[in-house]
Amino acid sequence: MTPVRKAIVPVAGLGTRLFPASHAVKKELFPVVGPDGIARALLHYHLLDLDAAGFEEICIIVQPGEEATVRAYTDGPDDAYISRLEGKPELHAEALKMRELGKRITFAVQHEQEGYGHAVYQAKDFAAGEPVLLCLGDHLFRGAPKSPAAELAEAWSRSGGRSVSAVNRIGPGQLKGYGTIAGTRLPDDPQLIDVSLIIEKPDVTTARGKLRVDDLGNDEFLGWFGMHLLAPSIFDILGRMIRDDIRDKGEFQLTRAQDLQREAEGYVAMEMTDARRYDFGTPADYLDAMLDFAKP
Ligand code: UTP
Repeated sequence: MTPVRKAIVPVAGLGTRLFPASHAVKKELFPVVGPDGIARALLHYHLLDLDAAGFEEICIIVQPGEEATVRAYTDGPDDAYISRLEGKPELHAEALKMRELGKRITFAVQHEQEGYGHAVYQAKDFAAGEPVLLCLGDHLFRGAPKSPAAELAEAWSRSGGRSVSAVNRIGPGQLKGYGTIAGTRLPDDPQLIDVSLIIEKPDVTTARGKLRVDDLGNDEFLGWFGMHLLAPSIFDILGRMIRDDIRDKGEFQLTRAQDLQREAEGYVAMEMTDARRYDFGTPADYLDAMLDFAKP
């Protein structure tokens, strides 16, 4: 089976909920203090996590004209700046690591903001027929002892080559924010769920009627965690949706493509029980996430 070695981070959204701060600086470049006390851009944590999980190549999806701005950060500082950091060993090491990571990044452009699925489709050539890990650009993830990215990469062989989405338990009040699944646990690997339906942001009645997972309570559901391991056919499916103009609420949604992929070749979800997700997409969530993420 092809190993998973490529990852995608879309950062081409409009960031309207964080206006006006997001007007001149992309939200994925906003500062976030890490548990080690170092201030990095949000996007930087994705790069470090993906590197630690063994990913070799990373594709960042940007809006037209944004590559230079993002590169100005991800390429790391120049030699003169690095020499200024020599008296600060932690920051010096950080700068050298940035330069190393920067060489493994490629960029793809989303010319129009037509939704998350449309953003992912721009990485078709980067994926080049290989499975890819997809991380929600304005979220961060943490898990111990393994990161969610590492767990998902390992799940690829357990899923038999089917896509795997990380999910976690949500209540009725959270359904409006997440893709939600129905399914049955694999008898010999109960962390994995054989998915029988995927619906984006269902209403409570639909979820209660259709989105059941065998052992969960009446008002417990499994919703997207924000990270997916996508089998290669997702790009053909997204390509067909774009060609045939199949939109939901005006956008090309990834969730629709995932459900079509499920129908065609099966789909697996992996329940994350100890891992955490931090949402940086709204002012209130940004504030909470910033304070929580900094805790060791
Ligand atoms: P969001 O759904 O939070 O959208 O995207 P957004 O446009 O960034 O934010 P608001 O709603 O205007 O405040 C989740 C992630 O997907 C990327 C975003 O950059 C973000 O990291 N995204 C979203 C794209 O790359 N392209 C899109 O068309 C939409």
